[in-house]
Amino acid sequence: MKTITKKQDLISEIDSLKATGKSIGFVPTMGALHAGHMSLVNRAVNENDCCVVSVFVNPTQFNNPTDLEKYPRNLQHDEEMLRAAGCSIVFSPSPEEMYNAEEMNSTFEFDFGGLDQVMEGKYRPGHFNGVVQVVSKLFSLVRPDRAYFGEKDFQQLAIIHRMVKLMNFPVKIVDCPIVREESGLALSSRNERLNTQQRENAVKISEVLFESRNFVPEKSVNELIRWVIDSINKVEGLEVEYFEIVDAATLQAIDKWNDNCVGCITVYCGDVRLIDNIRYY
Ligand code: PAF
Repeated sequence: MKTITKKQDLISEIDSLKATGKSIGFVPTMGALHAGHMSLVNRAVNENDCCVVSVFVNPTQFNNPTDLEKYPRNLQHDEEMLRAAGCSIVFSPSPEEMYNAEEMNSTFEFDFGGLDQVMEGKYRPGHFNGVVQVVSKLFSLVRPDRAYFGEKDFQQLAIIHRMVKLMNFPVKIVDCPIVREESGLALSSRNERLNTQQRENAVKISEVLFESRNFVPEKSVNELIRWVIDSINKVEGLEVEYFEIVDAATLQAIDKWNDNCVGCITVYCGDVRLIDNIRYY
């Protein structure tokens, strides 16, 4: 496995792979890898000749400087996991290597067609512009045949599909299911920041989401939203930022059940922001 930090070195390496007809599977990450990431890496290794993983904590997608500063980083451990999984190339550039000063300070703007006006987009202004900015750059460098994204970031995945369509990237986006701990807690790099009590509390998020499926369609959409929010807020140390039930394709809030809807939630567990989602069809 090679670790590459310079864009030009990555371009040369990808050129050689392309010249010999090798297929490339790509997993973009911000590091602090866990079993959720590794499920994407394992698929990329199995379905392609060569697996490339980027490890880059992207500053332009953080609207909260403390969140960026506290984001867990452990490249050496990430590299060990990736080597063991059969990854071929790790790309871990510095922010200065990825962006020039102008890009770092100006706002990159993408036409989201409304997908960014809801949920995460409302609470993290500019977040998805930063995601599209970095993923489009990474796609141009890696030129993957397939790229793997987790369904935990449901809204991000919808936006990546739109980006690929609008920008005509010749890549297949592979949607990968959420990986959960045995307790039900969705795996996240941010879980590393939870203490034992917070971890116990956080399990309630998935418990409530799973239970909520039993009330469909008896409760109305609005009644179910209220029930989920109240059940989670009742747990000491948990505070729901938003819970919305949306159409899985448009991400617009629904008021009547249909067969293509998903409930998306963000909860603060102390100062750790956790996200999860559940399908109701
Ligand atoms: O999902 C993530 O970890 C990030 O948003 C991504 C896709 C790696 C872009 O920085």
